[in-house]
Amino acid sequence: MADQSFVTLATNDSYVKGALVLGSSLRNYRTTRRLTVLITPHVSDPMRKVLEKVFDEVKLVDVLDSGDVAHLALLKRPELGVTLTKLHCWGLTEYSKCVFMDADTMVLSNIDELFEREELSAAPDPGWPDCFNSGVFVYRPSIETFNQLLQLATEKGSFDGGDQGLLNTFFSNWATADISKHLPFIYNLSSISIYSYLPAFKAQTSPSSDRFGTNAKVVHFLGRLKPWNYTYDSKAKSVKDAQDPTVVHPEFLNMWWDSFVTNVLPLLQQHGAIKDTATGVKAEEAAEAVSNLSLSSTALPHSPPSPPPMSSEERKERWEQGQADYMGADSFDNIKKKLDAYLQ
Ligand code: UDP
Ligand code: GLC
Ligand code: MN
Repeated sequence: MADQSFVTLATNDSYVKGALVLGSSLRNYRTTRRLTVLITPHVSDPMRKVLEKVFDEVKLVDVLDSGDVAHLALLKRPELGVTLTKLHCWGLTEYSKCVFMDADTMVLSNIDELFEREELSAAPDPGWPDCFNSGVFVYRPSIETFNQLLQLATEKGSFDGGDQGLLNTFFSNWATADISKHLPFIYNLSSISIYSYLPAFKAQTSPSSDRFGTNAKVVHFLGRLKPWNYTYDSKAKSVKDAQDPTVVHPEFLNMWWDSFVTNVLPLLQQHGAIKDTATGVKAEEAAEAVSNLSLSSTALPHSPPSPPPMSSEERKERWEQGQADYMGADSFDNIKKKLDAYLQ
């Protein structure tokens, strides 16, 4: 199957960690397709070497950035302008068909059957299900399509400032034209959905069927906080900060970390891609250091940007998504204080 490939993208060393977990997970479940990663010049040399161990092709592309501050502000993700770089995946014309996967996804089983689908197949976006989520999609590389997408981006821009808005405008009949292009949600299960519709995640539709959640084939860590932003306790085999409401069901986060420690960390150590403090010690012991991003990249700071403090609007949004900060701002004590103030 040399003419078909899984494809991902990493524009910096943080997302490379995600790409490495994704690539290892595809290998562990014995894909018969090739693995390709698109990178941009910011990715450090040691990380490129490690990528070459896991991927068949590491392709350097230039950054495409929407610079669309206004729309990206609406999405509250100023960093996502660079996701237009994803469009370069249409340039991989050595392949007849590909499956693109975000670097913040990981597979939980073999998903080679996706290659039976046609362009453009994708799963619904959990935020607006009449749009598809562009974290996992089946497509056919074509310079013509690539040029048309670039033209659309230049002339009309993207309604979310990133690739997903643009792709939904381009493949605008996805929602209505052909149900076979709707991938089941289990091929792009966003961790957010577990909190917003827990009963569905736990549902068992017939006595003989599995639960929806246990059928998951791809988990997508969609949102501002990525697995590599958490700290992992390798002895407890669990992400720390269990107080964080998004860690109430940490199963998938722990699986990501388990895969990182087992499959990726040894490669990072071998290739000097992590700082001296973290090398020479047992892989598991280095996990914590690496979780704080002690990567030897010169282009990047040595620790991940901590997420900016949440505005009250964002807090409200999280609350509405069932992600209340029960131990902090939204604690029972704080809510009671507020109620008492109103009553007075
Ligand atoms: N990406 C990247 N560098 C960035 C931001 C994004 O390489 O600074 C790539 C990466 O493959 C990532 C994808 O673009 O998975 C989409 O971004 P992200 O997953 O952060 O968006 P979300 O799924 O959270 O909306
Ligand atoms: C989304 C998708 C991601 C995409 C981003 C910007 O939420 O998950 O893949 O890059 O929007 O459009
Ligand atoms: Mn993503």
